Amino acid sequence: MAALREQRRDERARIVSGDADAVRRQHAQGKRTARERLEALLDPDSFVELEPYRRHQAAAAGLAHRRPATDGVVTGSGTVDGRRVFVYAQDFTLFGGSLGQAHAAKIHKVMDLAIATGSPIIALNDSGGARIQEGVLALDGYGGIFRRQVEASGVVPQISVVLGPCAGGAAYSPALADFTFMVRDTARMYLTGPDVVEAVTGRRVGHEELGGADVHGTSSGVATVVHDDEESCLEDVRHLISLLPSNYLDVPPDSGSVGAEHDRSERFADIVPVEPNRPYDMREVFAELADDGDFFEVHEGWAGNVLCALARVDGRVVGLVGNQPVVMAGVLDGPASQKAARFVRFCDAFGIPLVTLVDVPGFLPGVEQEHSGIIRHGAQLLHAYCDATVPRVQVVLRKAYGGAYIVMDSRSIGCDVSLAWPTNQIAVMGAEGAVNVLHRRELAASADPAATRRDLVAAYEAEYLDPYYAAERGLVDDVIDPAETRSAVARALAMLQDKRKPGPSRKHGNPPT
Ligand code: COA
Repeated sequence: MAALREQRRDERARIVSGDADAVRRQHAQGKRTARERLEALLDPDSFVELEPYRRHQAAAAGLAHRRPATDGVVTGSGTVDGRRVFVYAQDFTLFGGSLGQAHAAKIHKVMDLAIATGSPIIALNDSGGARIQEGVLALDGYGGIFRRQVEASGVVPQISVVLGPCAGGAAYSPALADFTFMVRDTARMYLTGPDVVEAVTGRRVGHEELGGADVHGTSSGVATVVHDDEESCLEDVRHLISLLPSNYLDVPPDSGSVGAEHDRSERFADIVPVEPNRPYDMREVFAELADDGDFFEVHEGWAGNVLCALARVDGRVVGLVGNQPVVMAGVLDGPASQKAARFVRFCDAFGIPLVTLVDVPGFLPGVEQEHSGIIRHGAQLLHAYCDATVPRVQVVLRKAYGGAYIVMDSRSIGCDVSLAWPTNQIAVMGAEGAVNVLHRRELAASADPAATRRDLVAAYEAEYLDPYYAAERGLVDDVIDPAETRSAVARALAMLQDKRKPGPSRKHGNPPT
């Protein structure tokens, strides 16, 4: 018995330490090993590994003589701040982390357990893609991952962390996740690599330029969060987990009321200028609203004209959506609509109340916008809000014009509590635009068009931009002092916490894309 136990211990130690040269190469590329990553991600000593002895059963292309334990992926479960998660970490030191049948089966198993136990799934990706020697069985393995991801969508949170290559069909896994993290310089994601791109298009392009973290964090919108190094990235994944429920039937961890229902802050009025077109940073409003000024922003570098973040208000986790006046004056365009729509759908799927901060001049006008489908994308956001059954609170800070007002969680599409500051301008359009449409002939005929325009604009503002216009007509529940924004939102969330709204009976809706 003693000999068997010793043999088992040695074998296990060999598996854990891995091939020293390959580990050195991994470190030389600025990357940690799969096990080092799991150690950084999970609570100390919480990791329970599954199937460490599993090996592939393939024989083709010399594989029969190369059958390392784990098959290039470390799988199992652990805790983050004491809460259970299921994890898999691809091990680039074995077959370049490539995915064969056994590798895939191990991933399928932890995904099935995550769904069955209602726990988040965290994937650490570092892989050369489908294991070429295993042929179509590798592709079959990917299909099994994608199918399970779609099955898990809206059931348990899915987080994908890209820490190395993620090429070909493999890239669909991060794309299907709720949150995708990437690390600069080492992570890269593309459907076809630089060589194929050059062969087909003639354009020479580097890995980073084609699918690096900054490309996906700013242009494509595939990456939700981008980091400079693995350490801060994995720490941030822990932060995110602290804001999420374990599954759709659970509630996010509540840190307990901090008495925000009685808070006052003059900072709100200092941050937001009264003049409707003067910019300010909506992040400062988020920070003033959130407990301890702390919020987790998604897609910080993509579609910056709208901001989306998870935060706590009086201990409760909420999803904040806000127009960002310092980027394109906060107009909604295609990417901003897509970004906010996906965030709203995530929050709704996991029971996270929505707080929408409105300061929007409208949708972005332009040929390129119309041709690229701004109608579809705006409709996507509209669909997401209309579908959302979680508590919904709207706060109109300044401008809220036209279709963009409707889409930013107005009363008409189902927000539960609508609040507005005395600086609100809820209208079909701003005064200048309205006067141009309504009084074109009068302006043309005027001996003093500038004076006539001034009078007409003043008359329009007095009638339609009166801060109580919408409240008098039941579109706003209350006009609040900006200093009371945090307390009013906290009270509204407390009022709505038991909201239940079953949806209509149907298979599922058909949101625009
Ligand atoms: N199938 C089987 N083995 C693979 C593999 C794959 N898809 N991708 C990488 N490997 C192996 C390599 O053969 C190498 O094995 P070795 O250590 O026995 O020599 C090891 O993984 C490391 O790969 P290497 O190419 O040396 O690393 P790199 O950092 O220079 O490059 C990649 C990494 C991912 C860019 C490169 O390996 C690559 O282009 N792989 C193929 C990607 C692809 O097209 N996948 C299929 C599409 S789904």
